[in-house]
Amino acid sequence: MRIAAVHGPNLNLLGLREPEVYGHRTLDDVNAALARLAAELRAEVEWHQSNHEGALVDYVQQAAPRVDGFLVNAGAYTHTSIALRDALAGVARPYVEVHISNVFARERFRHRSFLAAGAVGVVCGFGVGSYALGLRAIVEYLTNRSA
Ligand code: DQA
Repeated sequence: MRIAAVHGPNLNLLGLREPEVYGHRTLDDVNAALARLAAELRAEVEWHQSNHEGALVDYVQQAAPRVDGFLVNAGAYTHTSIALRDALAGVARPYVEVHISNVFARERFRHRSFLAAGAVGVVCGFGVGSYALGLRAIVEYLTNRSA
């Protein structure tokens, strides 16, 4: 089973960016932790980060044929991007939406997600631990679906 992690804008700044909100771990730390957990779960993970909406759409389209599902932290595009929502719907692969922070405890504009309705589920508020919970969730969902 192969999962693609999609990291949206500004997540390349993890560790430096608003550490009181997003913590001190870097995106490399997150990806390394995902790779370790994936091995434990007998899955494989790949990842891609971009600050550009169209590049994220391209990645979703290009990765879809080789992956079973997606783990998506679209950053601010979560709250704005119909294009990314349509890309995820278009490739018809299940995905879990993740956020480091609890977006519902923050500004109102973060309460709306264009991606959530199409997701298997949403994990938010557990710091970078949200990624591990999200990976477990998508792997479990795909395992149950194929059983
Ligand atoms: C985020 C929450 C978004 O509102 C924000 O724009 C981000 C990060 C999170 O992981 O908590 O860039 O997706």
